[in-house]
Amino acid sequence: MEIVDLNILREERLKCLNWKNIKPYWEAIEALPTPKNIQIKLSDTVEMLSEHFSDEEEKVIHDTAKLMHPWRKGPFQVSKTFIDAEWKSNLKYNLLRPHFNLKNKIVGDIGCNNGYYLFKMMEDEPKRLIGFDPSAVTYCQFKFLDHFMQSGINYELLGIEHVEHYEHKFDVLFCLGVLYHRADPIGMLKSLFKGLNQGGELILDTFMIDGEDDICLTPRDRYSKMGNIYFIPTVNALKNWCYRAGFEEIEILDIVKTEHEEQRKTEWISTQSLDDFLDKEDQNKTVEGYPAPKRVYIKAKRLKK
Ligand SMILES: C[S@@+](CC[C@H](N)C(=O)[O-])C[C@H]1O[C@@H](n2cnc3c(N)ncnc32)[C@H](O)[C@@H]1O
Repeated sequence: MEIVDLNILREERLKCLNWKNIKPYWEAIEALPTPKNIQIKLSDTVEMLSEHFSDEEEKVIHDTAKLMHPWRKGPFQVSKTFIDAEWKSNLKYNLLRPHFNLKNKIVGDIGCNNGYYLFKMMEDEPKRLIGFDPSAVTYCQFKFLDHFMQSGINYELLGIEHVEHYEHKFDVLFCLGVLYHRADPIGMLKSLFKGLNQGGELILDTFMIDGEDDICLTPRDRYSKMGNIYFIPTVNALKNWCYRAGFEEIEILDIVKTEHEEQRKTEWISTQSLDDFLDKEDQNKTVEGYPAPKRVYIKAKRLKK
């Protein structure tokens, strides 16, 4: 078995805070006003409310948030600043909400982005919440938000490949919107399996294609203008990947086509969004002619040792 020293890796990864493009973010976070009487509300928007910041302090909060664009996941309200992210992540969260109970559980969100779901999960009072995401930008967004949230969530600049080597195992793992980015999807599922306690649960979503066959789409180059999409399975192929990784009791929770209601361009991203990724003549196809993005949501269990 490969030996991975996570402490050396953590130290190495934190060096990203000195990168030329990231350093200004970090300096801006350090210059944020001290949180004053923050009231946390976990509605569809993750809200950090306060009446106690001066106009000047409100401007610092707003400018810091703006500096850290693009904001892909949200929405957030940080005092008077509303961050209307590209994705309404509340829709995915609300869809999954009836399918988990995190009370007193050790929970990981793998590919946690800026932590939107982790913050929402606080409502369940889990024992521990840990996010994994190697992105320096989303780490800074999380640290900006957590300056006001003071959540106690542990955000690791680590990847899915490190879950199996982590210092402890998890009762529940979320892995949302990551599988199609991996060139070795079954290897990734095995890593998640090994990261779970016996009896533990995985909640996952991925792009899918229609059909009953055990097959998957492998884009020649780009899919929806993304260069890092490798395998898009049918539901049956996805189930087979899960079985081969050791999972049992695989439940299909929902199947949802991505709509403009969920993903759209806002002033908090400067890049393109769903409208630009779909064929102008036929919204059921991507610009490359592949089936338009549709996601399957599943729950799977680790029953074996
Ligand atoms: C499409 S986003 C999904 C974000 C969120 N989980 C959701 O469903 O809304 C993919 C996320 O995976 C992260 N990511 C990239 N490489 C990763 C890796 N090796 N391990 C874990 N996450 C990774 C990206 O930084 C990004 O935040």
